[in-house]
Amino acid sequence: MDEFRMLSSDVVEDNEEIIEQSLRPQALKEYIGQTKVTNELQIYIEAAKFRNEALDHVLLYGPPGLGKTTLARVIANEMNVNIHTTSGPAIEKPGDLMVLLNELEPGDVLFIDEIHRLPRVVEEILYSAMEDYFVDIIVGQDVNARPVHFTLPPFTLIGATTKAGSLSAPLRARFGIVLRMEFYDVVDLTKIVTRTAGVLNNSIEEEGALEIARRSRGTPRIANRLLRRVRDYTQVYSDGIITSPLADKALTLLRVDKEGLDAIDRQILTTMIDYYHGGPVGIGSIAATIGEDRDTIEDMYEPYLLQIGFLKRTQRGRVVTPIAYDHLGYDLPKTNE
Ligand SMILES: Nc1ncnc2c1ncn2[C@@H]1O[C@H](COP(=O)(O)OP(=O)(O)O)[C@@H](O)[C@H]1O
Ligand SMILES: [Mg+2]
Repeated sequence: MDEFRMLSSDVVEDNEEIIEQSLRPQALKEYIGQTKVTNELQIYIEAAKFRNEALDHVLLYGPPGLGKTTLARVIANEMNVNIHTTSGPAIEKPGDLMVLLNELEPGDVLFIDEIHRLPRVVEEILYSAMEDYFVDIIVGQDVNARPVHFTLPPFTLIGATTKAGSLSAPLRARFGIVLRMEFYDVVDLTKIVTRTAGVLNNSIEEEGALEIARRSRGTPRIANRLLRRVRDYTQVYSDGIITSPLADKALTLLRVDKEGLDAIDRQILTTMIDYYHGGPVGIGSIAATIGEDRDTIEDMYEPYLLQIGFLKRTQRGRVVTPIAYDHLGYDLPKTNE
């Protein structure tokens, strides 16, 4: 088997979105973990419903696969409103946004994924739409050009982003509710794996769920993906019941190690050690050396390596930590700073 890449988009199956859809919890009380975020939301949702108002605009940020899209849908469900879904790169010009705004009914949710990638001209239209529910745009060309004023119903914009830092200050300032999604702990991931196994109608032992949870990089999307691969393995090599030893065998075959790192994670770390004495080294140099996209490393790989303390960020770049040397089976360099 070729190097297995659990995170990159090229292993994502075509029907991934359909599968994910079926696995998504619908209500806030079914949404596992992220209690800081959900407790806060619970209050805002209840208050908005009590006042019969649209929920304030919500910005959800954090690494991919932590449940931002799921949460946006849950919010719409809890508010009993429709959700209209789009993404930053899909809205190329003001007209594209106008089409979406035109469909909104009072209280509806407009969900913009990857909101940091909205074109500037589109973003500027959102300012007045978010603040005062109107849009002023120029319609027509040249001699026919005339300003038009549209009023909008009260609505809730939910933006999701992996890069809160790339959001412009004026856009960010217009979100009344800003929520940071965190990596999940093993207890919550075990619950998610068990729940998904139930939805898939697959038997799983508690220890089997735990093994998958431990190796899922704190990320529900990865947990669900690993579960499906382990399920394939147990159906072929066993009676289909997922146990801890079977999960371990399947995940080892996929080269997902005990810490949940995949081939690229390990390549990032070993490259830093072999070529840059463990750092400090800039993310651009790492990307160039391993031939991987810089954004992919920054958004998908680095956050978890930082979270588990395998990487450290310093003024001069990234540094591999002693526990990562140990995990990879490398001796610590004598002059490690
Ligand atoms: N809190 C959660 N409880 C149960 N499943 C979750 C939770 N968060 C995410 N998931 C699952 O993980 C997958 C990815 O979640 P998604 O909302 O698409 O992440 P994001 O939008 O942050 O990339 C979905 O299939 C969803 O079923
Ligand atoms: Mg999403």
